[in-house]
Amino acid sequence: MRGCSESPASILGVPPISSLEEEARRLLGCDPAHGWPHILRVASWAKRILEAERLTADLMVLYVSILLHDAGRSSGGSHHAVESARIARSLLPAHGLQGILGEVEHAVLAHSYSLGVRAETVEAKVLSDADKLDALGAVGIARVFHTGCQLGRGFEDSVSHFYDKILRLPTLMHYPYSRRKAAELAARVEEFLGWWRSETGGNT
Ligand SMILES: [Fe+2]
Ligand SMILES: [Fe+2]
Repeated sequence: MRGCSESPASILGVPPISSLEEEARRLLGCDPAHGWPHILRVASWAKRILEAERLTADLMVLYVSILLHDAGRSSGGSHHAVESARIARSLLPAHGLQGILGEVEHAVLAHSYSLGVRAETVEAKVLSDADKLDALGAVGIARVFHTGCQLGRGFEDSVSHFYDKILRLPTLMHYPYSRRKAAELAARVEEFLGWWRSETGGNT
């Protein structure tokens, strides 16, 4: 199982920036749904998208964007992607990464389902697709119930979340590979929801 010590840099094949990873790990924590394990899964999806679509991307931009895209979740205040972009602006210059700040900021803002920033770069599109693929399938089901529990939501609200958001994600993919995988993973969610309905008679 992936631990909190593994690096997304090794998944993407870039040299790790240990000090930035430490900051990101501290901000994200090891929460399996949105913390460091999510970062590792997103990096893994991003790698698969890059390979399947034979994309040329700036891997350092992608790596840093993946690292920080959810770093603002614990900040409270405004939208988490806006907070994550603010964190990127505050951290990157000190790590000698001022030159990629604009691209990182765009990718971080564009990954959000609800913020409405359209992904314009390869890196932003890959991050957005990879992040959404991690919300589908068996992992997505585990994440919804885990997060629901953290938020004090009942099963009924968690099940509604699949219909309100999760099953809409396949329409937001940018690449054919992502669309194919999203359809495959959404079918697993549909199957699960079928089991759920048959066991509960629609009453959760
Ligand atoms: Fe996010
Ligand atoms: Fe995310």
